Amino acid sequence: MNLILLGPPGAGKGTQAKRLEEAFGLVQVSTGDMLRAEVKAGSPIGLEARSIMERGDLVPDAIITTMLANRVGQADAANGFILDGFPRTVPQAEALDRMLAEKGLQLDHVIELKVDDAALVGRISGRYTCAQCGAGYHDAFKKPKVALTCDNCGGAEFSRRADDKAETVAARLAAYHRQTAPLLPFYGAQGKLSAVDGMASMDSVFAALSSIVKL
Ligand code: AP5
Repeated sequence: MNLILLGPPGAGKGTQAKRLEEAFGLVQVSTGDMLRAEVKAGSPIGLEARSIMERGDLVPDAIITTMLANRVGQADAANGFILDGFPRTVPQAEALDRMLAEKGLQLDHVIELKVDDAALVGRISGRYTCAQCGAGYHDAFKKPKVALTCDNCGGAEFSRRADDKAETVAARLAAYHRQTAPLLPFYGAQGKLSAVDGMASMDSVFAALSSIVKL
């Protein structure tokens, strides 16, 4: 089972990919997480990507598709993967089609998380993660059970993403509408697209996604 979660920044792709990963034994492949790891490591890719990401623009297709091809070829992805944040442009989607055909794999579902733009800024600006294990939280929608303590690992340090400032979020949203939204008709024409109401509660979104994945 291989699927794509499509949606604007803050739509809930990462939140739901982690839940689907656990429930269905799939692997979450997040190009955003991969790029942030490259930035942290100070690698050549990270050095090139850092300022682009901080502006809210997209990293060049060639860097992304090479990185993605290496990742989906790894053993842990053999049971299936959830693409979170990829593809983001029509050339990336075309490269993915070629990559899957070469590996004898297929794409089963492309699921759009539909969210109002107005809700996204609040979601993103309230988001933070545990610095130790990466578990995600939100100032209003998902607080740790014990204040300042990660539910998952007990860690007490948290961090916020450099590109989650309000002005950068506006640029990321503009990039989504300009460069990523054309993927909706692209996958619609392939008969693979379905949509879920991303404004519903996290549990309701997960239930809707699960019913599609089980099809
Ligand atoms: P990336 O890391 O992919 O970020 P994004 O697509 O902007 O998405 P986010 O991670 O911000 O949001 P999400 O949809 O995962 O939402 P989340 O679950 O966290 O990309 C970052 C940058 O890297 C890009 O700008 C670009 O520069 C570069 N990049 C990455 N991939 C690339 C590519 N393929 N090509 C080129 N460049 C690339 O949820 C958000 C918050 O809302 C959380 O706090 C969560 O708790 C809360 N929440 C989630 N669901 C709900 C709900 N149902 N109700 C209430 N709150 C909710």
